[in-house]
Amino acid sequence: MKINPAEKISGTIKIPADKSISHRAAMLASVASGTSVIENFLLSADCKSTLSSVAAFGAKVKKNDARITITGSPFASPKKNVDCGNSGTTVRLLSGLAAGQGVHAIFTGDNSLSKRPMKRVTEPLKLMGAKIQGKNGRLPLHLRAAKLRGINYTMPVPSAQVKSALLLGALGAKGEIKIIEKIISRDHTERMLPLFGVKLTSHGGKIKMECGQKLKACKIKVPGDISSAAFFICAAVLLKSSVKMKDVGINPTRTGFLRALEKMGVKYNLSKKRFFGREPVSDITIMKSSLRGAVFTKKDIPSMIDEVPLLALCATQATGKTVIMGAEELAVKECDRLEATYSQLLKMGADIKKRPDGFIIRGPVKLKGTSLSGFGDHRIIMMLTLAALGAAGVSVIDNTKGVEISFPDFFKELEKHIVVKAKIPSRGAPSLIKK
Ligand code: S3P
Repeated sequence: MKINPAEKISGTIKIPADKSISHRAAMLASVASGTSVIENFLLSADCKSTLSSVAAFGAKVKKNDARITITGSPFASPKKNVDCGNSGTTVRLLSGLAAGQGVHAIFTGDNSLSKRPMKRVTEPLKLMGAKIQGKNGRLPLHLRAAKLRGINYTMPVPSAQVKSALLLGALGAKGEIKIIEKIISRDHTERMLPLFGVKLTSHGGKIKMECGQKLKACKIKVPGDISSAAFFICAAVLLKSSVKMKDVGINPTRTGFLRALEKMGVKYNLSKKRFFGREPVSDITIMKSSLRGAVFTKKDIPSMIDEVPLLALCATQATGKTVIMGAEELAVKECDRLEATYSQLLKMGADIKKRPDGFIIRGPVKLKGTSLSGFGDHRIIMMLTLAALGAAGVSVIDNTKGVEISFPDFFKELEKHIVVKAKIPSRGAPSLIKK
């Protein structure tokens, strides 16, 4: 896709539903008694992988646009492999949930997912008594029926996927589970379980739950995804514009990017604060702002883990030096996001150095349009699109299909709200031009 530079972005942006919350709502509903209703479910490729996967274990899923109903059922062993596509959240959470349900299953995924580490879930699940084995710590994952028990577990890496896999496994276990996190990762599972009637306590990084509790169907409304909103927040910052987004989740375990930008000088306003279930939600308005460099360390990363590539992009336009540390987990996402961010921003002329756990970036440097690779990774494709909008000259991104994973309407929405600088003749490929 050809991307032309833009002058500004404006208006009220429609933000898709939260991916993490959609996955969890579908999984919990799949083992709850009765029929749950999930409003504003994210119908992206990743969440569709979760829907087909829970259906493979016996849940009855009905789709009516973004309103999904799921009737739970005791899990049955699927006859075919459970294909989790590109979705790390699907395979990691569902392997935990299924382990507790005493079923057999084989979990597979696409090329990217097949390269990602799975020991982080299989090791603690084994401590709980699960019979689960990967191939050299990766997919396919073979799960055999076993009885699980609760454990005391201190998380070696901050990961909401691992924490959630253990909590979901514990739903079918005996005893009690205690999880300790040194840095708190996203807590949607802990907030959602009580909606299904499960009792647990979660304070200051310590979670305690009685295992084997039964779930009852409920109604959930999914907020907008702050990680998707982040692309438009970044677009507004780069193009020195103002945008508004409605009904976005502002769970503090997810809003690290907003805090990081605030530290760099960005002004924003949160209005109409309210709750969808136990999730805080608000409208977000980003004000025209200027950026200055700042330092970010390990403790800042989990609450903006998926936004670090965007933060690096913003840093190229900030005055002074930005250091991002403690982000080594980025190397094991849908692609190696440290390398992808570094190599592509460097190609565009950024003053960027790679560290094993992040970047050192000096700015501001006007980026140059060029040919770019999105590594088939949705978040890298969208980050590079924004980099291209703020650059001088046309950019071409090799393959933009990946946006289906979390934000199927990304280009449509962007096109509605950007104003291009000048009409640059473009041939053939679709281009983001709006006069
Ligand atoms: C997610 C947790 C994060 C995040 C991913 C979604 C979740 O992964 O990067 O996009 O829904 O639990 P980790 O648990 O690996 O940090």
